[in-house]
Amino acid sequence: MKIVDLRSDTVTRPGAAMRAAMAAAEVGDDVFGDDPSVQRLEARVAALLGKEASIFVPSGTMANQLALKLQTRPGDTVLCHARCHVLWHEAGAAPVLSGVQLQGTDSDDGTLDLAILRGRLRSAEDGANPPTPLVMLENTHNHCGGRVVPQAHVRAVAAAAAAAGAALHLDGARLWNAHVQSGLSLAELAAPATTVSVCLSKGLGAPVGSLLCMPRPLWLAARRLRRMLGGSMRQAGMLAAAGLHALDHHVERLAEDHHRAKVLAAALAAVPCVAISPPETNIVRFGLLAGHPLAADGPTGLQARALAAGVALTGTGGTFRAVLHLDVDDDSLAHACDLLTDLIATNDQR
Ligand SMILES: Cc1ncc(COP(=O)(O)O)c(C=O)c1O
Repeated sequence: MKIVDLRSDTVTRPGAAMRAAMAAAEVGDDVFGDDPSVQRLEARVAALLGKEASIFVPSGTMANQLALKLQTRPGDTVLCHARCHVLWHEAGAAPVLSGVQLQGTDSDDGTLDLAILRGRLRSAEDGANPPTPLVMLENTHNHCGGRVVPQAHVRAVAAAAAAAGAALHLDGARLWNAHVQSGLSLAELAAPATTVSVCLSKGLGAPVGSLLCMPRPLWLAARRLRRMLGGSMRQAGMLAAAGLHALDHHVERLAEDHHRAKVLAAALAAVPCVAISPPETNIVRFGLLAGHPLAADGPTGLQARALAAGVALTGTGGTFRAVLHLDVDDDSLAHACDLLTDLIATNDQR
């Protein structure tokens, strides 16, 4: 049985054209600084984001952790959203690798409460409280349903941080989606932040790779830290070539994923026991009203039942996530819409 895999936009498999680009890549030893494809990718992504330099790393997690290590010292506090990827899904790396505490404030749209933020920002001269040299934002915000963080807010956070001597790191794993949805250029979206991470392996459909963009003076230290963390790669040009191909062919098409997310959300919204708000990008989050039999976790819940019938989702506690991506076409979407709405409606015993 063919599974329509909506667990994440990370599940895409490189198609024939991307594989051909990878096979044809010019390569060298990137630890010696010899890989022309990696150099092309780093220069291109830095330029796209309006930053002086970028470094190619195996994962978004490593890009975020490099940003933390570059801009903090052990004992510092980093201010962030309470449900950001760095806090929830990076295996506890920030306190272990950088010795920092993460302090989050929650919201449904990925924004930080500016009054709370200003109250928590502390300088290095504060002898008792931990300094806060770094603030983080995530755009689009995964746990907030792929929301595009309003650019005026990103600028306001950066300004509040700068007024207290702190920098802004932007986790832009899905900044491409924010770009396509908002119509703002990648450079405009990145401008308020000192460092920005972007992923090639999510909506862009490359198999591996992320970049951390930064001011030139941080770059040598970033290369050393990447080596320390085991992230330096040799003939990585084959992976960089996939990223270059994705930049050529897979950015503007993200609008198709955003459209399909709206189609799925509209189908789900028509089922009475579904709580959902319209998605902005490619992530659909929805809940089943309390008491719905499929709201349970485990083998009787929607996730297990949908998988058994051919649609893979993620979710716990009655809230589910479906992500649209390169490998979901209109037929797969129609199948997922029919299957999910049917399962939910026929099991509604209220
Ligand atoms: C917002 C965000 N940041 C960072 C990452 C980390 O990327 P990776 O899985 O490549 O480490 C993810 C992964 O899904 C993500 O959603």
